[in-house]
Amino acid sequence: MIPWKELGRAEVPGEEQPLVLAQRGSEFAIRIGAVALMSSLAHGSEEALAELACTHIADRPEARVLIGGLGMGYTLAAALKHTAGTSRIVVAELLSSVVEWNRGPLAVLAGKPLTDPRVSVTIGDVADRISAKADAWDAILLDVDNGPDALTRPSNDRLYQPKGLHAASEALREGGVLGVWSVAPDPAFAKRLATAGFDVHEATVRARRTKGTRHVLWIATKVTRRRPRAR
Ligand SMILES: C[S@@+](CC[C@H](N)C(=O)[O-])C[C@H]1O[C@@H](n2cnc3c(N)ncnc32)[C@H](O)[C@@H]1O
Repeated sequence: MIPWKELGRAEVPGEEQPLVLAQRGSEFAIRIGAVALMSSLAHGSEEALAELACTHIADRPEARVLIGGLGMGYTLAAALKHTAGTSRIVVAELLSSVVEWNRGPLAVLAGKPLTDPRVSVTIGDVADRISAKADAWDAILLDVDNGPDALTRPSNDRLYQPKGLHAASEALREGGVLGVWSVAPDPAFAKRLATAGFDVHEATVRARRTKGTRHVLWIATKVTRRRPRAR
């Protein structure tokens, strides 16, 4: 068995455990402590997140898409594939080291998506980017953690709570879509999305497309419910 080799580590603001990048043969992993955050062997559901969400905005040639966070770049690569050549994609990534790793040893995994001229990267919390401007995005894709009920970074909870979902709704344009990745089902979260005014579609997808663990995606569309006109 080939042993794991640590390629890098990064301090996570507010957390005790660092984020670690490791390699074993051709396999790469990003972990926090003993918890796996991402493996290069299984990225089907990360790609499906972008594919399913971007299908909803396929009629928007100048779509603006916000992705949090970068990980190994698979969601970003899929968003590039499933939006028009005139779209713009902003990646909000908490850790500058992750961006460096994606420009270095991880670059080829997802086909060097950071080199695409449609992409820009901002270092920081995606929550700040969401609350910065209303009506700014056609799609917001959230894969910052293992899901609303499986956090490795407790402060990410604010993204999944009613206030965070309200902020996401405000940041989206009419008909825009919020896509959320999760390692497991979470009926309470699906309910919160609906309460926040989204039309919610829940999809179960395999980690390796046709096989592997089942992950859950919520594709939530912002709908403005018009008030009936006064008589
Ligand atoms: C599971 S990985 C994302 C995997 C990615 N979807 C892919 O296709 O490879 C989670 C990423 O989110 C970043 N992250 C965690 N919390 C964040 C936050 N609040 N804002 C922005 N990025 C965050 C982590 O540093 C990590 O790079």
